[in-house]
Amino acid sequence: METAQLSFPLNTDTSIPAVGFGTYLISNDDAPQAVRAAISNGYRHIDTASGYQNEATVGEGIRLGAGAENLSREDIFVTTKLWPGNPAWGDAPRTGAQTIAECEESLKKLGLDYVDLYLIHAPYGGERRLEQWRALLQLKQAGKARSVGVSNFNTDHLDEIGSAGLPMPDANQIELHPWSQKPGLLAYMVEHGIAPIAYSSLVPLSTWRTEPGQDSAKTDEMKADGSVFAGMAKKYDVSEAQLLLRWGVQKGYAVLPKSLNPERMRQNIDLFSFSIDDADMAAMATMDRGDGVAWATGDPSK
Ligand code: A2P
Repeated sequence: METAQLSFPLNTDTSIPAVGFGTYLISNDDAPQAVRAAISNGYRHIDTASGYQNEATVGEGIRLGAGAENLSREDIFVTTKLWPGNPAWGDAPRTGAQTIAECEESLKKLGLDYVDLYLIHAPYGGERRLEQWRALLQLKQAGKARSVGVSNFNTDHLDEIGSAGLPMPDANQIELHPWSQKPGLLAYMVEHGIAPIAYSSLVPLSTWRTEPGQDSAKTDEMKADGSVFAGMAKKYDVSEAQLLLRWGVQKGYAVLPKSLNPERMRQNIDLFSFSIDDADMAAMATMDRGDGVAWATGDPSK
């Protein structure tokens, strides 16, 4: 297995390992052992969020994994996210002071002095969005976060930051896969030095989030097309999941696969012993179907 770790720069001091272990929907019962196993299988980047309600158990997994593999804090890149509130759900947007307090609470739960990346989870802050962003810049200044960014922001939300004369986010974590390529947003991000981080890379798999209670706005047409990447994957002698993840890494996006299955965990980080050829990358470039499907409640960037 080839797990040589590639990293992408975030700012002058920090770079992000290209493959991270995603923890959305990992329960508090599973998280300690899942994160420990991910670290033992070579992951050096763990992604969680206050909204996932598993920071304490993910933190426990990080300690278990670091202990088992004899790693120090600097060896593992950790991301967590501010839940910004959402007035549409009767959840008041967090003020700047609340944003600072929530980051400190997340650090306490994780059992860490700092995170490598702190993100605003969604642009739901409304008129407090810039206040929240200013608070993240303060957290970076204070060393609580080595880099700061956003998630689910569209070009208007990013422009709001630029127009206010504030430094741009180091990263924007968004749904990215061959069915949701967001070319306009990506061009804007490249122009402004905002690193893309891909979530839900595995959406095109036929088996993606089919368990009862799992959120998805996948259309019937998408469900019927579930095996569209199978032929391509066979050519490289890899799984469909590896092909989809390699597509992201090859485009320059950090990816965040999540699996509780040790075999898949290993497979999902084994992306560096093959590359997708130009003809297949060109074919995949034509497969864009617009907005993503991971948030069944609607496009979170609107
Ligand atoms: P499992 O944990 O049983 O491996 P998301 O993080 O976007 O919700 O997607 C993760 C889903 O994809 C999980 O249901 C996970 O199931 C599945 N998955 C992860 N890796 C693979 C893989 N290599 N092959 C098939 N399914 C996978």
